[in-house]
Amino acid sequence: MPSLNELLERLDSVRQQAEEELSHAGTPEDLESFRIKYMGRSSGALTNLFKQLSDLSVEDKPVFGKSANLFKQRLQELFEEKYQAIHGAVPKQGKAVLKDITLPGRKVNYGHMHPITKALTEVVSIFTTMGFSIAEGPEIERDYYNFEALNMPEEHPARDMQDTFYLSGGFLLRTQTSPVQIRIMERSRPPVSIIAPGRVFRRDWDLTHTPMFHQVEGLLVDKGISMTHLKGVLETFLKAFFGVDTKIRFRPSYFPFTEPSTEVDIGCIFCNGKGCRVCKTAGWLEILGAGMVHPEVFKRVKYDTDVYTGFAFGIGTERLAMLKYNINDLRMFFENDLRFLRQ
Ligand code: PHE
Repeated sequence: MPSLNELLERLDSVRQQAEEELSHAGTPEDLESFRIKYMGRSSGALTNLFKQLSDLSVEDKPVFGKSANLFKQRLQELFEEKYQAIHGAVPKQGKAVLKDITLPGRKVNYGHMHPITKALTEVVSIFTTMGFSIAEGPEIERDYYNFEALNMPEEHPARDMQDTFYLSGGFLLRTQTSPVQIRIMERSRPPVSIIAPGRVFRRDWDLTHTPMFHQVEGLLVDKGISMTHLKGVLETFLKAFFGVDTKIRFRPSYFPFTEPSTEVDIGCIFCNGKGCRVCKTAGWLEILGAGMVHPEVFKRVKYDTDVYTGFAFGIGTERLAMLKYNINDLRMFFENDLRFLRQ
């Protein structure tokens, strides 16, 4: 094992030799062979000197390290001076990169809208074209707005723990966008025509249910509004969204806050109405609930039930997107599988 002094001597002689050789270098080739011999990364003289470091004792290491580093710096400076003298320019850091200007440009990858966002945007645009304006309400809602004011008193089955995510202090995650109806009517007088898109939450998880999903609420109140207006608006919407040939079915139904109530189905596009796993053999898929606003609801917001009538509807956005984009498992929307999202 060489001693510290031996190594320092070796370093000194390498230094002398290098300076000597560099002073004679006159062509780019000379310079390049010098660079390889002394400054080459894998087996240049400098690298070899540094390799000796590991053989030294803990006290000697910094002594030799310091000298070697000074030498390295000196070598670098001398080399750059010479390089400039020969090439007329300073050396580039790293390897020179040849630019091939005939290469095609790099492709920019565009992002994609989530199918739900796409569907929501389209729903909103159809209704705003018809003259509805957009309203919003909180996702963390008071029991009063989500249930009570919508004619669902405390013992109502829709409040079942199975469905609702309850929070403390009389709050819950809204199970529907209908509370926005109340909030809007509380602060405005008829005529009212709004849609309220948003997230809703229910404790559910299967092919056609996820614990969070989207609805678009609609509300129209004015003098002389009847069920025919409701039918007309919904048919116009559904044909604009799905196309004029769409099969539509209005079914009598029940909601505590509408009377009469209806549910609207669309012919199942997966089985063409024959009945399959998605439509649970019915041949139809339910996509919205609707009805004439219940007088009890109007009373809460102090609308005169002798003067005004109105209709409301709630559309399941995921269902719309499933049908429109031919997706047969609702859960795919929220699993964030990029292969699915990129389609
Ligand atoms: N809120 C109802 C639901 O979530 C849908 C609905 C909205 C029904 C408005 C009637 C009127 O099922």
